[in-house]
Amino acid sequence: MILREMLAEDLDQVMEIEEDLFHVPWTREGYFTFLTKENTMFLVVEEKKQILGYCGLLMVLDEGDVTNVAVRRDRQKEGIGNFLMESMIRLAEEQGVNTIHLEVRQSNETAIRLYERLGFTRDGIRRNYYENPVEDAILMTRGTVA
Ligand SMILES: CC(C)(COP(=O)(O)OP(=O)(O)OC[C@H]1O[C@@H](n2cnc3c(N)ncnc32)[C@H](O)[C@@H]1OP(=O)(O)O)[C@@H](O)C(=O)NCCC(=O)NCCS
Repeated sequence: MILREMLAEDLDQVMEIEEDLFHVPWTREGYFTFLTKENTMFLVVEEKKQILGYCGLLMVLDEGDVTNVAVRRDRQKEGIGNFLMESMIRLAEEQGVNTIHLEVRQSNETAIRLYERLGFTRDGIRRNYYENPVEDAILMTRGTVA
């Protein structure tokens, strides 16, 4: 299993996972735009040329925002999500990012537990943030300014 930066060539596989997992998936164009930006970090975990999971971060000065985290349905609960997030946090810290924010659907207990294990704490709610279905977002932050 290797960790590396996401490339445009990965987008066929990424879109397959994205469309399987999310009610409102990001588009290929959305990913492409973010991949070509300077202040982003998109990582994938790959095994035998197969993408197992990916995550993304948008960075502004010393703060980051998690944009995506996903692990193929048939490879969840093996620690890949934890590995991706832990790696992204470490690499972001090396670039001077010491505070990371994210938002997550209130019902997404697996993801919330993962983030809490990684040191994120809840610091707010954004009402009706998500659509299809409409749901509140839990805001979480890890780092010096909570
Ligand atoms: C959220 C998500 C990324 C987590 O990825 P993952 O690879 O399953 O995460 P992990 O394997 O690190 O942890 C998930 C669970 O598996 C458990 N686990 C990890 N390794 C394990 C192993 N070897 N054996 C048994 N269980 C294991 C973890 O303890 C954790 O348990 P918990 O849910 O009881 O807390 C994944 O579920 C996903 O893609 N969900 C859909 C998309 C999504 O919701 N993304 C987040 C949007 S904010």
